Amino acid sequence: MTDNEILIEKIAALKKEKHAVILAHFYQEAEIQDIADFIGDSLDLSRKSAATDADIIVFAGVHFMAETAKILSPDKKVLLPDLNAGCSLAESCPAGAFKKFREQYPDHIVVSYVNTTAEIKALTDITCTSTNALQIINSIPEDQPIIFAPDRNLGNYLNSLTGRNMVLWNGACHVHEEFSLEKIIELKKEHPQAKLIAHPECPQPIRIVADFIGSTSALLKYTEEDNGSEYIVATESGILHQMKKRNPDKTFIPAPPIDSTCGCNNCKYMKLHTLQKIYESLRDEKFEIKLPADLIEKAKKPIQKMLELST
Ligand code: 13P
Repeated sequence: MTDNEILIEKIAALKKEKHAVILAHFYQEAEIQDIADFIGDSLDLSRKSAATDADIIVFAGVHFMAETAKILSPDKKVLLPDLNAGCSLAESCPAGAFKKFREQYPDHIVVSYVNTTAEIKALTDITCTSTNALQIINSIPEDQPIIFAPDRNLGNYLNSLTGRNMVLWNGACHVHEEFSLEKIIELKKEHPQAKLIAHPECPQPIRIVADFIGSTSALLKYTEEDNGSEYIVATESGILHQMKKRNPDKTFIPAPPIDSTCGCNNCKYMKLHTLQKIYESLRDEKFEIKLPADLIEKAKKPIQKMLELST
């Protein structure tokens, strides 16, 4: 047996003994996706964490995702195998500065992407994910002004789709910001049949040349339903594992970042989790996400509104 196989057996035994589940985002390492009870996009992971009857949720994702699970399941133990698994987007929107920003627009409501801290959610009217963002924005009366936070690229994309003029917080994800338009165009020349598929967190110049734009689950679905055979994928490279698994005869090329030596299309936070850390997390029940009850109460409202609105 390899070391990984031994670890996987130990994780399975602990999961059974402790009545635990492992939830993993599509951006996790392939070996973690393969042992998860459920893999999904941010919206599906929220739904799963609200619905599970497990006693322990091990969240192989980033901090805001584990926090969302805790907010939706406050009686469960939610563990994050590496506490440093943060999110550049969530960090780009600190609560103190956002509160002041919001005060400048007293007649606006706040829609925030789930990629935010619990404190920002407590200052939010409705959350959204990239899967349901358009549906959430379209559910708000057209004459109601909106602040959208924290991703300026997703906000700008939604403004272009809806014709609204939402006020945007100036945040971005370090992975999606780093893709190089020039290198993508070069790749397109080398692979003329390849379609460019991009996450809406990509900057506008990349979205303009994309053949399809969508959340991680939408990109995955597109690769399964589209009749093409080659794709340049402009989102975090972890998603390629599912794309290849579900489409073994198709070719997937990760979109290149500006600096080809930086490996920036790997999210440095998502990739902090390992099988060893998941095993230790389950064994020692660490690192537990804890939030004050009043913060959970406030942060839950906009998430529940989102879950009610997204079908
Ligand atoms: P989705 O999985 O909802 O598309 O979002 C992923 C994400 O957090 C991108 O940074």
